[in-house]
Amino acid sequence: MKIGILTGGGDCPGLNAVIRAIVRKGIFHYEDEFVGFLEGWRGVLENVTRPLDLEAVKGILPQGGTILRTSRTNPAKKENGLDICIENLRKNKIDALIALGGDDTQSVSQKLFERGIKVVAVPKTIDNDLSGTDYCFGFDTAVNVATNAIDRVHTTAEAHNRVMVVEVMGRDSGWIAIYSGVAGGADVILIPERPFSINEVADVLTRRHARGRYFSIVVVAEGATLAGGETFATERRKTDEFGHVRLGGIGNSLAAEIESRTGFETRAVILGHIQRGGSPTAFDRMLATRYGIGAIDLVHQGRFGRMVALKGNDISSVPITDAIAKTRYVNQELIDVASSLLDKHTEGVSLLRRDNQPA
Ligand code: F6P
Repeated sequence: MKIGILTGGGDCPGLNAVIRAIVRKGIFHYEDEFVGFLEGWRGVLENVTRPLDLEAVKGILPQGGTILRTSRTNPAKKENGLDICIENLRKNKIDALIALGGDDTQSVSQKLFERGIKVVAVPKTIDNDLSGTDYCFGFDTAVNVATNAIDRVHTTAEAHNRVMVVEVMGRDSGWIAIYSGVAGGADVILIPERPFSINEVADVLTRRHARGRYFSIVVVAEGATLAGGETFATERRKTDEFGHVRLGGIGNSLAAEIESRTGFETRAVILGHIQRGGSPTAFDRMLATRYGIGAIDLVHQGRFGRMVALKGNDISSVPITDAIAKTRYVNQELIDVASSLLDKHTEGVSLLRRDNQPA
């Protein structure tokens, strides 16, 4: 078969490992031929391709980024965009397409599938909030980067008697924040699933310091929001073609508010794209490889309109519609784990309360 591959949306460590696994199994076991569409859906829309053979995937297993590059192009937003994509797939004599991406990329996969294109999806989001699968590759790497940063911030916070606010990725969900916050021993963890009160954060820190602690670590997901009534300025920049506002800045605003309300010297560290860059962990290389093998097998089983998925320890698949239907939020069990580590009379537990859980 002649198979197209693309990577869309924000990059993740492990994309190259998926591409390599697909190409190697496809060539060695199925005698497939591959075409790489460059920069996500832009490559399909503008017919920009590169050959993908064994030589092209040589040595890319440990490499971050994606050899196919990526973009947040949305063909559904362009005039006749989906028709142009279908035409370009035909021109390239593509029998099946494997799309690596999150809910935005896969919403386009689903639209093309409904128009007769044979698509298989591979789940990808650093935020780890895609439904239908237990884990996305790249998340483990991001958690390790963030945990390592929190460990480093700890020692300097302690040396200077400071509050350090560490801002991590997580637009709609707090997976990176809660994993790295628990693993790094943070004193307060703020996630989009639980709108928070700045006054409560300030009270928690004040009580902690009154008990004799002289430094604190606050981990905040970039998409965390304030509970009713309170506001502060964060940077809100332009939206992408899927309508998402570019986030960033809550760490700085929160640090300023903490300092003014508590009097404790406070600094912010914004990890940003450092979490998405660099070489994948061994866990992510393994998961990415299993997803790649699962995807090429789905193609040859003729099971299109499906996304490979990790369920427990097993690779399986779900309809793409399941993956794009809703965001997968941090579950209560993890929130309970984080809360259990905090002194319920003094620290943090109120920030992770059970009430305002999203529907
Ligand atoms: O969607 C994944 C994500 O990493 C978010 O956590 C973050 O808000 C966004 O992408 C950053 O996007 P960009 O790389 O376009 O700045």
